[in-house]
Amino acid sequence: MEPFEAALGPRTKVLALTHVSNVSGERLPIRELCELAHRRNIHVHVDGAQTWGAFNLNLRELQCDSFAASSHKWFCGPKEVGLLYVKRSRIAEIWPNLVSPGWGSDVNPDVKGARKFESFGQRDDARLAAIATTVDFHRRLGFDRVEARIFELAGALKSGLKAEGFRLVTPEDPKLSGGVCIIQVPPEKRGEVLNRLYTRYGIAGSTAGGLRLCPHVYNTMAHIDRAIGAVREMRSMMGQA
Ligand SMILES: Cc1ncc(COP(=O)(O)O)c(C=O)c1O
Repeated sequence: MEPFEAALGPRTKVLALTHVSNVSGERLPIRELCELAHRRNIHVHVDGAQTWGAFNLNLRELQCDSFAASSHKWFCGPKEVGLLYVKRSRIAEIWPNLVSPGWGSDVNPDVKGARKFESFGQRDDARLAAIATTVDFHRRLGFDRVEARIFELAGALKSGLKAEGFRLVTPEDPKLSGGVCIIQVPPEKRGEVLNRLYTRYGIAGSTAGGLRLCPHVYNTMAHIDRAIGAVREMRSMMGQA
């Protein structure tokens, strides 16, 4: 908490945090940071791109003032739509930086509530409707069960890779991490490793922060073992002994 406390000054207005980092897999203690910021009347915005759909989120409990995320990641929803939550008590203080017809027009001059953040001209209604279908999918699985399974898979992946001698970028402690699992790979090797992992082993990852693998509910423990085995076989490529 100290580095954050030290960084806040009298001119700080907003604390913009990433819930789970896509380049380290680290999870920030959002609630505690909100308590810290709110004592100074600082707005806390959370980037939940790596947690919406992965965690059983309760934004009220998290206490953030606003939260944004894209639907196509852990939520497994349509692309190019997302979520913006703004705490009701903060709506009056925040303004969209992009507006188009329908926003504060002669017909509807007084845009209230969430509508204030919602005017981008013509919408792709099918995508928006697909969000509701995706919510049904998660409800059917159970938000709590999705989260538990992701932690189970990520835990097995991290401990398996560590047991093979790979250095984790992401903390092992579930309180400090989520579904994002990253091991150290020198930047110049990452592209080649990722390519080989995909073409030879059929495993998709990312080069963000090292070699990033993100197991989700559609993965099995056999997939985790396969990923660990593939990474083991590629050890010499990865600049690790
Ligand atoms: C933490 C985080 N924030 C924001 C983004 C950007 O998301 P999008 O490409 O949906 O705008 C990403 C993408 O990976 C991310 O991981």
